[in-house]
Order: sequence, then C-alpha cells, then structure tokens
Amino acid sequence: MAGEFVCPWWIGYVLVCPARRWLNDPAKLLAPYLREGMTVLEPGPGMGFFTLELARLAGPSGRVIAVDIQPKMVAGLRRRAGKAGLAERIDARLARPGSLGLAGLENTVDFALAFAVVHEFPDAGPFFAEVAPALKPGGALLFAEPSGHVTQPQFEAELAAAAAAGFLLETRPAIRRNHAALLRKV
Ligand SMILES: C[S@@+](CC[C@H](N)C(=O)[O-])C[C@H]1O[C@@H](n2cnc3c(N)ncnc32)[C@H](O)[C@@H]1O
Repeated sequence: MAGEFVCPWWIGYVLVCPARRWLNDPAKLLAPYLREGMTVLEPGPGMGFFTLELARLAGPSGRVIAVDIQPKMVAGLRRRAGKAGLAERIDARLARPGSLGLAGLENTVDFALAFAVVHEFPDAGPFFAEVAPALKPGGALLFAEPSGHVTQPQFEAELAAAAAAGFLLETRPAIRRNHAALLRKV
C-alpha cells in the first residue's frame, strides 16, 4: 500500500474545504496536544487544513515546520498562511524525493502531526526513522491514516515500523474515518 499514490495537487483544494471541519475539526482534534511556544513538525501538510490551527495553537512564540513534496501544495499553504496572518509562524518547506530535509532539527520538535500522509511514502520505515530524531525525547507524534485508503492490518504494519524507529504507542485516539495513534518518542 505505502507509496502507491501521492494525492494530486488539486486535491489540496478539496482537503482545505471548510466542510471538512464537520468530520475532523482541527481545533478540537489538536488542542489537547498543543501549548503556546511549541515547535511543531508537520510532514505532508497539503495546503494546510491542520497547519493553520497548529500555528494558532503554538502562538506567536511557537513555530510550525511544514514539509510537502509538491511545490503547489507548499505554494497553496504559504498563500493561506499569509491570508490568515500566520506566515511568520509557518516555515513551509519543499521535501526532496527520499528526504523530508530535517537535518538541523534534531531534538527540537515538541509535537508532530502526520495526517493522511504515511501511506503516500514509499516505505513507512524510513519515514518514522527520519521523523524520530527531530522530536525531543518525550515528544509526541499524532499519526492518522484514512480508513478508506488504509486497512487495519496496513495501519498495524505502519505502527510496527514506528515502534522499530523508537516510538511507543501511548493511546489510540478516536478520529472519525481514520485509524489513529498517539506515539511518544522514548
Ligand atoms: C492526502 S494529503 C494530506 C494532506 C494533509 N495532511 C491533510 O490531511 O489535509 C497527503 C500529502 O502528503 C504529501 N506527501 C506525499 N508524499 C510526501 C513525501 N514523500 N514528503 C512530503 N510530503 C509528501 C502530498 O503531497 C500531500 O500534500
């Protein structure tokens, strides 16, 4: 399953549709994990359905590093961050094939969000192995995969890859139409 499909850039517009809040409200979903001043990492943000809320919750002293593989997703995210007055808190970066480019972030990230993205990577193992060093010890990763695209056994295999990279499974939050796990870097 992993890496079979990277969602086309124009789906980015669909994913930021306000109606999606009825299904997964970013404020309600993220508030339990965020505090002002946090450093946040979001691989695969698309055009930023969750990113803007991450930046609001991290506050003026926080920052969000959002890394996407598609230039049009990054451009859309920057545009939306600017309109929302959040551009200074959001560092929107372009990933390279095979690397999120996280060098220099080692042990700096308090919270990471990987929502509907890991199944688009060629392999979940290198994804978790790249994200883990960026998190502080004790830092959290909220990991969710759409249940319409990712089966339960596939999600469990991704969790096994996360465990191999040094993540502990803390809880399985209920997120509608998604498999989800809160992982903790040990
Ligand atoms: C289904 S979209 C989800 C977007 C966002 N997380 C959301 O839930 O609205 C998956 C995103 O992951 C990005 N992506 C896929 N492979 C990637 C990679 N290797 N590195 C960074 N981003 C990637 C895609 O370009 C796309 O923006």
